[in-house]
Amino acid sequence: MPVITTIDDLKRIYRRRVPKMFYDYTESGSYTEQTFRDNTTDFGQLRLRQKVAVDMSGRSTAATMIGQPVTMPVALAPVGLTGMQSADGEIRAARAAEKFGVPFTLSTMSICSIEDVAQNTSRPFWFQLYVMKDEDFVDRIIDRAKAANCSALVLTLDLQIQGQRHKDLKNGLSAPPKLTLPVILDLATKWAWGLDMLGTKRRSFGNIVGHAKGVGDTSSLMSWTAEQFDQQLDWTKISRIRDRWGGKFILKGILDVEDARRAADFGADAIIVSNHGGRQLDGALSAIRMLPRIVDAVGDRVEVHMDSGIRTGQDVLKALAMGAKGTYIGRSFIYGLGAMGQAGVTKALEIIHKELDTTMALCGERDVLALRRENLLIPRDFSGNWA
Ligand code: GLV
Repeated sequence: MPVITTIDDLKRIYRRRVPKMFYDYTESGSYTEQTFRDNTTDFGQLRLRQKVAVDMSGRSTAATMIGQPVTMPVALAPVGLTGMQSADGEIRAARAAEKFGVPFTLSTMSICSIEDVAQNTSRPFWFQLYVMKDEDFVDRIIDRAKAANCSALVLTLDLQIQGQRHKDLKNGLSAPPKLTLPVILDLATKWAWGLDMLGTKRRSFGNIVGHAKGVGDTSSLMSWTAEQFDQQLDWTKISRIRDRWGGKFILKGILDVEDARRAADFGADAIIVSNHGGRQLDGALSAIRMLPRIVDAVGDRVEVHMDSGIRTGQDVLKALAMGAKGTYIGRSFIYGLGAMGQAGVTKALEIIHKELDTTMALCGERDVLALRRENLLIPRDFSGNWA
């Protein structure tokens, strides 16, 4: 067994173990993948301020996200098709998150359904909603999330139409995979994944199949998005959804200062500064570059979270120091899940936690809640001078 010390180690094992189609789904950005790359490289532009001779004992990474206590402010982001990375992947990831004490967010486009996850976990999780044209379906899925005791609704705003990911088209991405010759040849080398998958009956979109009417190809995320997602989604519709839900409400996919102000006026419990991991509007700025401007614009009027590009505990520290109150990891936990199932998600969380904790200490901080911009060395033009 290799010694695993980084998220990248998990990624290497993941790549060997999981079919190419699902690895590529994770590892894609849209179009030229510029934003996908910038999300990670821009974290590298921020440097850390080393502080010495301060008492660094008794450190704490404990915080709250939307009022809920967390071991560290790092939630698992909603990721479509997670149950294709590892059998019953959403259940495995949710259990790891629950044990670690961080939120798990279930995607609408998950393989395990809301009910599957609820029956196999003991703490409330968060549910991420995509808004479909079929209002009846939307109402019913909101009610299902309520019935499952989900403790927040995360409404995604930046994927009403899909940014094209070339690899998914070329691979013929579907759940379950269609057995074409290239897929069969690939699966022949991924037998451990195949055996694991044979042990579950959950191999298609659990929240959709059997719940939605008039759907063409239920195995294809791309055709489902194109056919069903509501391109008329606007603030009036967001309001309707919030009223139907009636609980903690998070708006995901905000990358613009004016949109952030609007979300604060609207009274969301939190916003997630995000460009969907570089999977949607290629050419958009990285989330970490936009974060400080958005934090400065909304102040304390809404809790600001961020995702897109976090691969280390140092990235988490940088986002928090820039003013985020919470962060999310997507790919970083998927690598762990694909590599080692539930234990791999736990490993990813442990790696990030240890990096965050050690970096805090070396920055002379004992409390994650005390992190601030002074902990960073920020290039003067970091947010950019864009017209
Ligand atoms: C769905 O959320 C995707 O990015 O594929």
